[in-house]
Amino acid sequence: MTSAFPSPVQEREPVDPTLDLEVEIQRLKEERKAVILAHYYQDSEIQDLADFVGDSFGLSRQAEKTDAEVIAFCGVHFMAETAKILNPGKKVVVPDLDAGCSLADRCPPEAFAKWLEQYPDHVVVSYINTSAAIKALSDIVCTSSNAANVVASIPADKPVVFAPDRHLGRWVERQVGRKMVLWPGFCVVHEQFTARRMLAIKRDHPDADLIAHPECEQAVLDLADFIGSTAQLIQHVRTSPKTKFIVATEMGILHQMQKARPDAELIGAPADSGCQCAVCPYMRLNTMEKLYLCLRDLAPEVTVPEEIAKRALLPVERMLAIA
Ligand code: 13P
Ligand code: SF4
Repeated sequence: MTSAFPSPVQEREPVDPTLDLEVEIQRLKEERKAVILAHYYQDSEIQDLADFVGDSFGLSRQAEKTDAEVIAFCGVHFMAETAKILNPGKKVVVPDLDAGCSLADRCPPEAFAKWLEQYPDHVVVSYINTSAAIKALSDIVCTSSNAANVVASIPADKPVVFAPDRHLGRWVERQVGRKMVLWPGFCVVHEQFTARRMLAIKRDHPDADLIAHPECEQAVLDLADFIGSTAQLIQHVRTSPKTKFIVATEMGILHQMQKARPDAELIGAPADSGCQCAVCPYMRLNTMEKLYLCLRDLAPEVTVPEEIAKRALLPVERMLAIA
């Protein structure tokens, strides 16, 4: 879980404004023998200097195989925590310890454990957007890129509990043709997209593909031409013959999409309010200045209690084995 208090890094002295942060970050990265991993929802300048940019699955894979001594994780807390579970002996630092996730934060382990008591014979599948403590209570973890494969890998006669994203859970149910017990969580960013707005923007751009992340509600997904994880959405744009796309996910993704298809017109899907402002407030806590400070001071560090990390490792490894 993330702290309710400001992390120490936010109380540090201001960074010298004349510093060339890009140069300093590269220098510190070499000095610390660090690798910088970044999610597609990060600011474009952070994505541009990262060693690897990816979706949750790709980032876990990179964390699993890195030989760097330090992992500087530019994403949100559960992603860095997963990197730590996979690398208990390495130092994992983040620009801002308060960069949580609405899905992870609204699925507290005590309430989850109590809820699970109702389903003692169920296989517990948890989305990677959960705390390490939730992963430790699960049989297998999944990401948006492999959730259907993970559920399909469970014997058909076993009942399944899926947490915490109800929209992803419903989408998986339809993919796999199997009912599951769903924890009623949602993402505050994707929840802003509505079918009403999507119908209107599709009418304005009938030649565009609507592409959506499976954290969007079912009525939005029903209107989509393609649904996938952030990496899969970028791959769709890269390989599609279409030249116009309405993109229903966090706006940070547009940076790599435009690089992949400079000729394509990318339209950020509007939120229900009408604004093109689907920005994750947690992801955007990370800045170049905070990345510089975390490499300079090797803090704040992400830690996971040993007992929880040990129990969370197997469900994460099971997920990594299912591409
Ligand atoms: P991806 O694994 O598709 O990158 O999704 C992570 C996420 O937090 C989406 O909101
Ligand atoms: Fe969590 Fe939603 Fe932000 Fe993804 S976009 S990190 S699910 S709050």
